[in-house]
Amino acid sequence: MRDCRRNRRTFLTGTGAALAGLAVLGAAPAAAQAQPHRIAISLDKVPQIRNVGGSVVLKVQDKLLLLIRDSPTDVRALDPICTHKQCVVKYRPAEHDIKCPCHGSQYALDGRVRHGPAPRNLGAYAAVLEGDRVIVTL
Ligand code: FES
Repeated sequence: MRDCRRNRRTFLTGTGAALAGLAVLGAAPAAAQAQPHRIAISLDKVPQIRNVGGSVVLKVQDKLLLLIRDSPTDVRALDPICTHKQCVVKYRPAEHDIKCPCHGSQYALDGRVRHGPAPRNLGAYAAVLEGDRVIVTL
């Protein structure tokens, strides 16, 4: 059995995962941390998604976030942790899907499971391009 935690660390190091400069829009008070909030990510901080076919994994407020640029006007934001045994999944632009390197689960770009063994969909977040920023609602 693979060590998924090690795989996650290797993935982050090996793919140049970024810790982007982020801005929380409309900062919420501490008591309201569980409420959805918007995060602005400058494309200058994530050049990997400037062009269609790009992707990047970021750490945002103690969560990993997979951003995928799958069209000139759209960015997708997903939880990159596979629902099978918690490996970090990878976007495959040529196949137009997301695949887990550990046991082969495949997901659609909206996070739905196409092929197991993953038992559940990836978490998905609302994301929009606004000028030179990606706005993600966590
Ligand atoms: Fe098993 Fe992803 S960890 S398929």
